[in-house]
Amino acid sequence: MKQPHIVVVGSLNMDLVVSMHRMPIMGETIPGSTFHTISGGKGANQAVGCARLGAKVTLIGAVGKDGFGAQILDGLKAEGILTDKIKQVLNVPTGVANVLHTSEDNCIVIVAGANEQCTPEWVDDYEQLIGKADLLLVQLEIPLASVKRAMQIAHASGVPVVLNPAPAQKLSRDILQYADFITPNEIEFDLLSEGLCDRNVDLQQRMILWNKEYNAELIITRGKEGSSFIRNNSLHTVKAPIVQVVDTTGAGDAFNAGFSVAYASGETMMDSVEFAVKVASTSVTRFGAQAGMPSFEEITNI
Ligand code: RIB
Repeated sequence: MKQPHIVVVGSLNMDLVVSMHRMPIMGETIPGSTFHTISGGKGANQAVGCARLGAKVTLIGAVGKDGFGAQILDGLKAEGILTDKIKQVLNVPTGVANVLHTSEDNCIVIVAGANEQCTPEWVDDYEQLIGKADLLLVQLEIPLASVKRAMQIAHASGVPVVLNPAPAQKLSRDILQYADFITPNEIEFDLLSEGLCDRNVDLQQRMILWNKEYNAELIITRGKEGSSFIRNNSLHTVKAPIVQVVDTTGAGDAFNAGFSVAYASGETMMDSVEFAVKVASTSVTRFGAQAGMPSFEEITNI
């Protein structure tokens, strides 16, 4: 199997993670159990996921020229990720994510900071690189115009595009037309399919309607249920194995990394989803979005 080159255009954050036994309710103060400062950001997490699974990875993005930025870059270099297309911006702080973590769930507040400086012009500088990649992987934590530019470039060169539409955002056809695969969770899909059909219609019908409307293959991530897509007009679900969940932060990132590596390596969509479900299920058994990303050997030994 050849080693695919995956280009990720996306965010880099420092995750400020407070772990607790339960989420506070509005206006409440509760004690937390631990605090960790760990590298995150959907772009960087997915880049690390791809690298651990054996892909050659280039990450295009931006950090501040500060302590958090330096720490994030060091971590990515240690993973073998090509980081020279990550802009280091003066006088703008590195993006941060405040993560409230319980073993069942998380709540995240993001301050984009330098991620806003990953501009369409910055992406344009790497047109040749994106155009020669085996796959482009994008999310929604950098300016939408930059996501669209990266997708346009890849699409024009016949490079498969995986769009992870997270965090949840309504997207226009203007962007969706450049995606080959789109990987929302159920909440993100609710928002994406608004206006197309009623939320009360069952998932299979909504997905069929979506597929009629757009060309991109829709793959929905469904937490412990696994992942679903439409085949021959019916819902096909790849079940997730039952695991001991420690941290769900970055589960979607792990899924996207797994899917992208498998697909860019020549696997079918179905096999790639099966691989991705295993990657995501393994990632949630460990603490930390990036730290939890499994290696190729771990997944093939399941
Ligand atoms: O998907 C998880 C990530 O979302 C976290 O690492 C955090 O940085 C936010 O971007």
